[in-house]
Amino acid sequence: MNIMSDSPAPEQVPAPQHKRRVRYSGKNPRRFEDKYKERNPELYPEAVAKVLASGKTPAGTHRPIMVAEILEALNPRPGEVAVDATLGYGGHAREVLPKLQPGGRLIGLDVDPIELPKTEARLRSLGFGPETFVAHRSNFAGLPKILAAEQFPGVDVILADLGVSSMQLDDPGRGFSVKLVGPLDMRMNPQRGQPASALLQRISAEDLAAILEENADEPQAAALAGVLAGQTFPTTAALAKAIRGALLRKVTDDEIDNSIRRVFQALRIAVNDEFSALDSFLRNLPGCLNPGGRVAILAFHSGEDRRVKKAFEAGLRAGLYADIATEVIRPTPAERRDNPRSSSAKLRWARKAIRI
Ligand SMILES: C[S@@+](CC[C@H](N)C(=O)[O-])C[C@H]1O[C@@H](n2cnc3c(N)ncnc32)[C@H](O)[C@@H]1O
Repeated sequence: MNIMSDSPAPEQVPAPQHKRRVRYSGKNPRRFEDKYKERNPELYPEAVAKVLASGKTPAGTHRPIMVAEILEALNPRPGEVAVDATLGYGGHAREVLPKLQPGGRLIGLDVDPIELPKTEARLRSLGFGPETFVAHRSNFAGLPKILAAEQFPGVDVILADLGVSSMQLDDPGRGFSVKLVGPLDMRMNPQRGQPASALLQRISAEDLAAILEENADEPQAAALAGVLAGQTFPTTAALAKAIRGALLRKVTDDEIDNSIRRVFQALRIAVNDEFSALDSFLRNLPGCLNPGGRVAILAFHSGEDRRVKKAFEAGLRAGLYADIATEVIRPTPAERRDNPRSSSAKLRWARKAIRI
């Protein structure tokens, strides 16, 4: 048979549908919606490589911090059970998981109902099936309950990388970033609690000043609380503008920027009740670890690090821990240069005693 004769005449071939390509507005787009190349890293590896080379984090991803130092502190071994209490993008989890094989398991926790299913799917697609990896949408304050449900009286390795992920920070719709305009929300789990805008609307100046001081050591706490408490700020930009207005001509522009950053941090901590979750987690830790089990915690500001340091020192004194980090461990200058979001990271570890 003449193959050619089976082909339709050229004029009968339907014209190929020309799909207009979404316009890409530049090498490093500033608008989140424009970052479609970065958000499809498998399709656009060269775009992702360029963003990484510029010291930025590709949209919709998160770069794990101090991976080598964490692996050294945790020393995950084949057959062991690990918990990643703050799964995020799964960056640390995907490094720990292979070290637990054969025979080991990782239990991942995160409060974020938006990112958790994506991370679970990503780790599954890397070959980590339900026999090696399970994910729970849970606050790490509830770790003992999760371990009971998984029928593990204790685990060998626990990691917590505190705070928010780059996916949360870079999504304007979640209202975490002062650099992006979006609703003033800041909830890691938007299905629970109240957004930052509602908190500001109902809080007294006295309570807000306490939050700004306790959560972020804000030197202008009283002045700012007087202006911000009880007011309506629907967006991140509206809040930033009000802070700027309140401090204008009182302090330098740099100090204003720092105050804006600290107010955002303080509100995020309050909205997500971060310190009480961390306190419960630290209290529960020794009971969740097997004898000789290791825990590593990455903190990003003094309020977090102070709590971790105190809890580990108290555990050592009580004989619950056999050993703890004597000094805080910081990212190398190369990592700080390569990933500026690592700059404020502070790592501490502890090892549970064999006999208590
Ligand atoms: C810094 S990111 C973790 C990134 C992760 N280590 C990685 O490499 O991809 C912190 C994550 O912890 C989650 N998180 C924060 N506080 C939490 C809590 N109390 N319980 C569970 N998850 C929490 C956040 O939703 C976020 O996804």
